[in-house]
Amino acid sequence: MTPEELITACGGQDNLCRALKVNDTVILELNDPSLRTAPAASLPFNAALSQVTWHPETPLTPDQWQFFGQLIDDSIRRQLSQLKKTEPAQFRPQWHIAPVQGMLNDPNGFIFHQGKYHLFHGLYQFSGKHKDRCWVHYTSDDLVHWTPQPVALCTADWFDSHGVYSGHAVSQDNELVIIYTGNVRIGEQRDRMSTQCLATSTDGIHFTKHGPLIDELPPGVTPHFRDPKIFRHRDHWIMLLGAQEETADGTLRARLALYRSENLRDWQYCGLYGETLNNGHFGYMWECPDLFEADGQLLSMLCPQGIESHSPFYTIPHHCGYVKATLDSEDHLSLSDFRHLDHGFDFYAPQTTQAADGRRLLIGWMGMPDETQRPSVHEGWLHQLTCIRELTYQNNQLYQQPVRELLQLRGTEQMVSFSGLSTREVIPMTSKSFELQTHFSWPQQGQKTLRLMDNGEYYCDLILDAKNRRIVLDRSHALPQDGDTLRDIPWPEQEDVSIQLFSDQSSLEIFINGGRYVMTSCIFTPANACRLQLLSSHPCTWHDIQYWHLSSGK
Ligand code: FRU
Repeated sequence: MTPEELITACGGQDNLCRALKVNDTVILELNDPSLRTAPAASLPFNAALSQVTWHPETPLTPDQWQFFGQLIDDSIRRQLSQLKKTEPAQFRPQWHIAPVQGMLNDPNGFIFHQGKYHLFHGLYQFSGKHKDRCWVHYTSDDLVHWTPQPVALCTADWFDSHGVYSGHAVSQDNELVIIYTGNVRIGEQRDRMSTQCLATSTDGIHFTKHGPLIDELPPGVTPHFRDPKIFRHRDHWIMLLGAQEETADGTLRARLALYRSENLRDWQYCGLYGETLNNGHFGYMWECPDLFEADGQLLSMLCPQGIESHSPFYTIPHHCGYVKATLDSEDHLSLSDFRHLDHGFDFYAPQTTQAADGRRLLIGWMGMPDETQRPSVHEGWLHQLTCIRELTYQNNQLYQQPVRELLQLRGTEQMVSFSGLSTREVIPMTSKSFELQTHFSWPQQGQKTLRLMDNGEYYCDLILDAKNRRIVLDRSHALPQDGDTLRDIPWPEQEDVSIQLFSDQSSLEIFINGGRYVMTSCIFTPANACRLQLLSSHPCTWHDIQYWHLSSGK
C-alpha cells in the first residue's frame, strides 16, 4: 500500500487529523473512524485514540512524511477559513492583540526583519482549551498597528502534531529563521516527545518547515525540554532551552540546556546550567527562557514552575522573572538573583527583541497556564498579549516602560483636579480603554485606594496600605475568574507612588514609579463599570489625574 492509498482507505484527506511517527511505524489519527474502508479496516486500530497503525514494507521517505504533513496543513487551513467570525464583544481589547476566536498563549518569534516587526503567538482557534497550538503571525511598521498574516505554522507534521510550541526567530540576510519546539504525544499514556525544529521564510509570510534540528534529549533530561532562545555570542550562536533534569534519586530540577552552533543548523550540546541559582533548587521546570543585554548587563528571563512563593497571596505554581547572567568565552552560563518581572495576576512567557533603533523591547502573555475560566470565554476568545514595553537596567534593576510608539493612540488630554481635603472623589469615564497618569503621596496611616472599572458592585482596587507597607491589587470584586484575587508589592520605604496605567476593556497594566514595578492583570467587570474612584480612610489632598482615551490600534 502507498501513503496515498492508505489515506483513501482511511476516508480521505479531511478525515486525517494527525500522522505520527514511531520509529518507522506510521500512526494515523482519524476524525471519523467509521469512514475506513477495507485496506485500512484490516490494520490495527486503537478506538480510544481513533488511531490506525501501519507498518510500511519500507520506511517512508522524508517526502512521504511531508506528504502527510501537507495534507493535514491544507485541511487545518481549510477549517480555519470556515470558522465563523464572532462579533465584537464587550471584553475584547481595543488595541491589545487578542484572538477573534480561540485561546491565545505565549508570544513567539518577536523580531525586526527587513524593515518590519514580526510577532507570532500560540493559538488554538477551535476552542478555549490548552490544545494543539499553532503559530499565528502579525506584522507591524510601528509596534502599535498590527496586520494579521496567514497562520505561520500549523500542527500538521509528525514532529509538531500536538503543538507548535514556543520559540524565537532570527533575521539572517533575507531569511526569517524560526526555531521552535515540536510537541508530540504518543499512545494512551500520552508520552511526550519534544524536538527543536526549524522553519524558514524568504518572503516573511510563508514558512517552510525543515523538521527537527535537535531530536535527542540531553543525558538525564526528561521530555520537558522546550522553548528555544537563540542568542548571538561572540562568533557563534547559542541556543538556550528550558529543561527538566531528573536526578538519580528521582528529584526533578529545573535547568537551562545550552547548545552552540556556527550556522543555526548544526547544534552541539554544551551542558545544563542553573545550579548557581538558589543552590540548584529552584522549581521543577523553567519555561520560555530569554537571554539579552540591557544597559551593559546580561540578563536571562525564566518562567519557573514550582518555586516557593514570595507572598502569601501568590498561591499558583507558575512564576515569571529575571536573573543576572554571565556567559564566558567557553559558553558557561551562570545565573544569580532571581526577581519577579511583574507583580500582577497575568504575566507569563515574555520575549524580548531588539528594536531597529537599539531599544530592548518586551512583550508578554497576559494570561497564565492552567487558567481558562474567564468571562471572555463566553465571547469565544481567551487571553491577550501585553503592550510592548521598553526595557532598561538601572540601579541593579530592570525597568519596564510602555513603548513610546503607544503615544499615537492617545486622544485629547483630559485633566481632573481636586480641591481641599476629601476621602472620596468620583471620576466618571465613558469607556474602559484609556491611559491614566497620577501620583499619590504615601498615606501616613490607613489606606488610599484607586478604584478602577467600577459600577458600585464590581470593581478592582489598587490599594496603598500604610499599615502593612505594601501596595495591593485586589480583584476580588471583579467578575469571577480562576486564579488568585490579591497581589502585593512590599513597600518598606513608603515612598510616594507615581502611576501610569493602561486600561483596555478587560486588562490593566499599571506601571509604578517609572516602570520600577509593573502589575499586569486581566480584570473583568460589566460594560457599564467605567467609573474611577479615589478613596481614602483619612481626609487627604489628591493629585491631578491626567488621562487620554485610546483609539483602536488595529
Ligand atoms: C508556556 C508554554 C511553553 C510551551 C507553550 C505551549 O506557556 O507551556 O513552555 O512551549 O506554552 O503552547
